[in-house]
Amino acid sequence: MPLDMALDDLLRWYLDAGVDETIGDVPVDRFIDRSAAAPPLRPAAAAPAAAQPPAAEPRHPAIPGTAAHLAAGCAGLAELRAAMEAFDGLPLKRTAASTVFADGNPEAAVMIIGEAPGQEEDRRGLPFVGKSGKLLDRMLDSIGLDRGSAYITNVLPWRPLENRKPTPDEVAVCLPFVARHIELVDPQVLVLLGGAAASAILARHDGISRLRGRWHDYSSPGLPRPIPVLATFHPAYLLRTPDAKRGAWRDLLMVKKRLSGRD
Ligand code: URA
Repeated sequence: MPLDMALDDLLRWYLDAGVDETIGDVPVDRFIDRSAAAPPLRPAAAAPAAAQPPAAEPRHPAIPGTAAHLAAGCAGLAELRAAMEAFDGLPLKRTAASTVFADGNPEAAVMIIGEAPGQEEDRRGLPFVGKSGKLLDRMLDSIGLDRGSAYITNVLPWRPLENRKPTPDEVAVCLPFVARHIELVDPQVLVLLGGAAASAILARHDGISRLRGRWHDYSSPGLPRPIPVLATFHPAYLLRTPDAKRGAWRDLLMVKKRLSGRD
């Protein structure tokens, strides 16, 4: 095809060549309710801080029935849990046994966000209660925390079958729920476990090795101020890669220092 063709020439050229429909390079899962996806979360600098929840008045009102619309209407955690349990916009939910909402103390200073429930979490309806949960409990213990002094949830409340990684579409559909969850808990510090949680919440494409080890800010219109965020390795990764524990330990010490007001 000549490189200097005008657009209508180019279209005619395609039609003459027998091209009568357009197909993307990337497969699209049409079973996903795309209208349920939220606009991407923005890092602190780009987002204005506003009043306490539920004051946030969306600039673009969400479509009724979508995750964004349901989440925005929730004034408390019980309402949010009920909205997520009633949500029908993600096929993943139909194969999951539970909607894994959260565990721990919603009044805690620290909110921890992982990726998605595994088999044991799906069976028991609680986050981080399998093998990686046991390591997470030890990590918390090492900085003087436990499930009475931390609050734990995931980006996805439903287990992807075979413990596969959630797709970007699945993450996008669930983001309004986790964003509202953060607003309602309004913790002093957010800790993100693993690359999936870090890139979803921080809206960054960098891998966890680049994002961990330093403070980020998280803002949303329903938060009174930006929340400091630390990303670190996921406990499942640490179980497979013990050499990474040294870095995770340094990250945990940063959290401890921040909570004690020494930083
Ligand atoms: N991995 C996660 O990211 N979350 C869980 O709840 C369990 C394992």
